[in-house]
Amino acid sequence: MPQANLTILSIETSFDDTAASVVRNGTAVLSNVLSSQIPLHARYGGVIPEIAARAHTESMTMVISNALTEAWPSEDPRQSLKTNIDMIAVTHGPGLIGSLLVGVSTARSLAYTFNKPLIPVHHILGHVYSNFLVPDQEATVKSEKLKVESSSALDIRHSSFSLFPFLTLVASGGHTELILSTSHHHHTIIARTRDDAAGEAFDKAAALLDLPYPGGPSISASALQGDPQKYALPRGMHTKTSLDFSFSGLKTALAQLIQKLRLENVDTAQAAPDLAASFQASVVESLVSKTMRAAAKYNVRHVALAGGVAANNSLRKSLQKASREQHLPCFVPDFAYCTDNAAMIGAAAYFGAHSHSLASTSFPWYNVNVEREPLLELQAQ
Ligand code: KG4
Ligand code: ZN
Repeated sequence: MPQANLTILSIETSFDDTAASVVRNGTAVLSNVLSSQIPLHARYGGVIPEIAARAHTESMTMVISNALTEAWPSEDPRQSLKTNIDMIAVTHGPGLIGSLLVGVSTARSLAYTFNKPLIPVHHILGHVYSNFLVPDQEATVKSEKLKVESSSALDIRHSSFSLFPFLTLVASGGHTELILSTSHHHHTIIARTRDDAAGEAFDKAAALLDLPYPGGPSISASALQGDPQKYALPRGMHTKTSLDFSFSGLKTALAQLIQKLRLENVDTAQAAPDLAASFQASVVESLVSKTMRAAAKYNVRHVALAGGVAANNSLRKSLQKASREQHLPCFVPDFAYCTDNAAMIGAAAYFGAHSHSLASTSFPWYNVNVEREPLLELQAQ
């Protein structure tokens, strides 16, 4: 059984968001603070590592302080850290090294100063555990209740998620992976993208269509007015037996299609909704079909979606529909926990820590394996 009332301060700085959160018992989000760097990077059309690291340094202390104040408004944040926080969790990778260093150094200093255990968390596992989080308002009420009730909704969520094995599709700006979780300590990457990540593909497609950065939200907004069947775009790795993904061919096909339309004097700004919808349909179909094939192959008990691209409504609906057809429960995270956030890091840390001796220094507590397809499959490309 999970340890009762374990409150974790978590820090996430792997990429372009400076984030800190307070999570109780791996699910109840007492605070989830984020300082977004999108305006700083928007004019470059992508994240500039040096700018990201500097911005993390500038906002880190304020973000942590705000997370503590939001969780305990009437207390001094330093006092809250001292008395209310049981452990500190931090993303240790993967990510931009300069960005990670800011979060890790801060977390280590706090852990040392306040004498708290420090838990390093793999960023992708954070995304996996975003599905365990309960949205803010609900969580505050429930976390209060949790003090007196042993069988709350949160416990039900704990136990329903303990139905291993489960499969999570993590699709973000830097990753597109299928993670098979057989226990809280064993997570295997069974498939990944061979080139671009799904979010990266959205960002590049948006740039081709002159839509604003980040591309995911602008493509999905534009696609709402478009016809997904207007243009036939390829589905990457569709006919391959491999569960891996590929999006670079799709990006090239979109670029060539835009060029062809321009030569035919088609107004591509006007055609943008149809192009966006057709592009989105291709990405969604690739993601969903591979996920469902993997779910059947590994005979999982449920599927889950995570990462920034999990905010895409078309993907959420399509995966839920496909899961229903295979009679599998499907979990999608609350919108607040799709893109990078620190609450998911606190959740991952909790589920590893509750059954792990805190006296042990053998962190990380989990085992992430990479299961590759046979070499023959790679050669067949
Ligand atoms: O998880 P995340 O915040 O950062 C990484 O770890 O990469 O994901 C950011 C990515 C961006 O590429 C963004 O375009 C994409 O998630 N994204 C979306 C949507 N919202 C964000 N992609 C598709 N549809 C969306 N609604
Ligand atoms: Zn991420």
